[in-house]
Formats: sequence, C-alpha cells, structure tokens
Amino acid sequence: MKKKEMEQLFISKCGGNAEGVRVFNAPGRVNLIGEHIDYNGGYVLPAALEFGTTLAVRKREDGKVSFASTNLPYTAEIAVEELGKEKTEEWVDYPVGVIVELAKRGTNLSSGYDLFYHGEIPNGAGLSSSASIEVVTAFALLSMEGKPADKVEIAVLSQKAENLYVGVNSGIMDQFAVANGAIDHAILLMCDTLEYKHVPFKTGAYKLVIGNTNKRRGLVDSKYNERRSECDEALRLIREKAPEIEFLAQLTPERFGELKGKLNIEVLLKRATHVVEENARVLKSVDALAANDLAAFGSLMNASHDSLRDLYEVSCLELDVMVEEARKIEGTLGSRMTGAGFGGCTVSLVHEDSVERFVQEVGAAYKERTGLEGDFYVCGVGDGVHEMKGEN
Ligand code: GLA
Repeated sequence: MKKKEMEQLFISKCGGNAEGVRVFNAPGRVNLIGEHIDYNGGYVLPAALEFGTTLAVRKREDGKVSFASTNLPYTAEIAVEELGKEKTEEWVDYPVGVIVELAKRGTNLSSGYDLFYHGEIPNGAGLSSSASIEVVTAFALLSMEGKPADKVEIAVLSQKAENLYVGVNSGIMDQFAVANGAIDHAILLMCDTLEYKHVPFKTGAYKLVIGNTNKRRGLVDSKYNERRSECDEALRLIREKAPEIEFLAQLTPERFGELKGKLNIEVLLKRATHVVEENARVLKSVDALAANDLAAFGSLMNASHDSLRDLYEVSCLELDVMVEEARKIEGTLGSRMTGAGFGGCTVSLVHEDSVERFVQEVGAAYKERTGLEGDFYVCGVGDGVHEMKGEN
C-alpha cells in the first residue's frame, strides 16, 4: 500500500485532510531456519517480508483513541485513561496491549489518536500478522509522542503485550524480525542475549516461495504451550547433572551427547534433540550463506523440516504434503514448514526458472491430496518497521 493511498483511506474513514497524518509500516516475517528455538534461548534466522501492516495515525483533541482497519469490521473508540481496563477479545487487543506496555515503560499517551490499519498478511498463516500490528503500533506511537523508537526495545515490549495482554505465550523471534528486518538480509538473532546481526540474503537466481496451506491452525496454542513445557522439563532433568545449563539451546551436540542419558522419557529426548540439532543447523546455515552455498542451505532447510515432523512433532499432513511436493520440483533446493506449525506456511528456495511450474504443480498435487487450495507468494526480503516518507 502506497502512503498516498493510505492517507486517502484514512481521510475517508476519519475525516479532515492529510495534515498531521503520518503513515508507518511493519512487515510480516518468514523464519528461514531455527524453529521452536527462540524460547529455548538459541539462534534463529528469520527475515522480514515485503508485505505487512500499514498504519495511518493522527492526533485527536478529545482524549480518545479510535481503532479501525480495512480488513475487519470491528472498530473501537476508547478514552485514553480507559485503555487496557477491559479486553475486547478482538484484534484491537493487540494495539491496546502495546499501549499498556508503553505506559509501563513511561510513555503515557499525551493525547488521543486515530489509528487506522491496513493489513496485507493473511491472518492465521503463521507469517506474524499479530507481531506486525504490535510493532507498527509501538513504533508509530513512540514517533508521534516524540520519543526515541529503539527497535530492540519495541520488539521486547511488543512481545510482552502479546504474552501479558493478549495472553499468547510466544517467544521473541516474530516481533524482533518485524522490528529489525532489513532489505535483502536475514537476521541472525541470539534469543537469550538479543545480540543480532544482519546476514546478507542474496539468493541470485533462487527465489523464496511461501506456500500457504490454508489449513486452520486449530491446535496451535495448546500444542505450542505443551512443547514449551516439554522443553522446560527436559532442561530441568539436564540441569540435575549440569546446573550451569540455562537454556536447552546452550547445549552443543557434543555436550548433549554426554548428558542426554538424563532424558529417559522418549518424548523429552526427541524434543531436546530437535532443539540442539536445529540450533546447530542455524549456525551452519549462516556459514552456507556466507560461502554462497545455497545447495547446502537448502539441505539444512530440508533437515529442519524433517526434524520438526519426526522429533518435535509440530508438522501436520498438509505441511508435509506441500513440502514433499515442493521437493519433487527440479530447481527446489530446500523446503520446510515455517513458524509454529500445525498448519500455516511452508518456505522453499526455488530456481526462478522453476517457480511457475512449482506454483502450478505443487498447487495441483496439494489440492488433490488434501482437498485444500494452497496459495503461493514469491517474495523478496523487505524492510523492518519504518515511517513511510516521500512515497506517493
Ligand atoms: C511462533 C512464535 C515464535 C516462535 C515460532 C516457532 O511463531 O510466535 O515465538 O516460537 O512460533 O519457531
């Protein structure tokens, strides 16, 4: 969405003219590798997408904050001092949760605002539409209030909004990627310390193809929490022998080999093995990208999926079918599920000459085998949260 277009939509919704209207954008994210690692304190390698959430904002003088979106019919108008007192169980809880976190950190809104959103990320597809709403809200309101908008701080407070206000127990990866993305770069993030660096992601003739299974992620919240507790339990057992280990992903494969005898429950052994090996795969992926060895990177993507399917058990029939069909296409270097799992999207690295065939053949086989229509997005790596300026 262009800035001018968003201003026009804003004016038709909220009235007045473009004076005082500022427009901000935050992307969605795709995780390239490092799945279910963030809450285990290890490395992840997400990237920002070229599509996301656009937010037009203007101050208002009556001390109320209005929320509206082009995507969903629900709107709200809440007095500043009432914000956060009552949950709506609607999308508005995401921005309100952010406002509550901003206040805890010393930024109380000094006036009311009109907030008008336009989302391009399919909801519930595992491409972080909620993190995108949170991060764009935090960045926009800090900017409107004339406060420094530190992107790491924004990621942390947005995650807190999701954990504490919305009530979803997610890790830091999504908000971090959405806030700190950079064009043509992936983000290597150490989730324990939040140290990060931008890793060039120039794939030449190869394109990222995101495949949306359009499978509703029904079980995702309960299964997500179940995996988190299994990891906590595995860590507790490991710490009986090695109390210096603070997170599962702190274990190198060698050290894990020495300690894994403590995990005498098979399911815990499988979960921990995934975490340790996936974390190691992220570092290998970064080396492969640095060496421009995309074939090696693709193999690591494949290994990641297989581990999520067999050891971490967060895949599902639809994801497995899409990945399996993707790998049959010549020119596909790697394919895996991305995000929490149990539905949502796959990500594949596909030669540009094969992309058309990929979309047709994977789409057709997927439909035949699952009865569902998949959607495919051929996507470059976009920018993190920013104010849209000068674009028409
Ligand atoms: C979801 C969560 C993230 C992360 C991924 C799995 O996207 O929001 O914090 O845990 O699942 O890697």
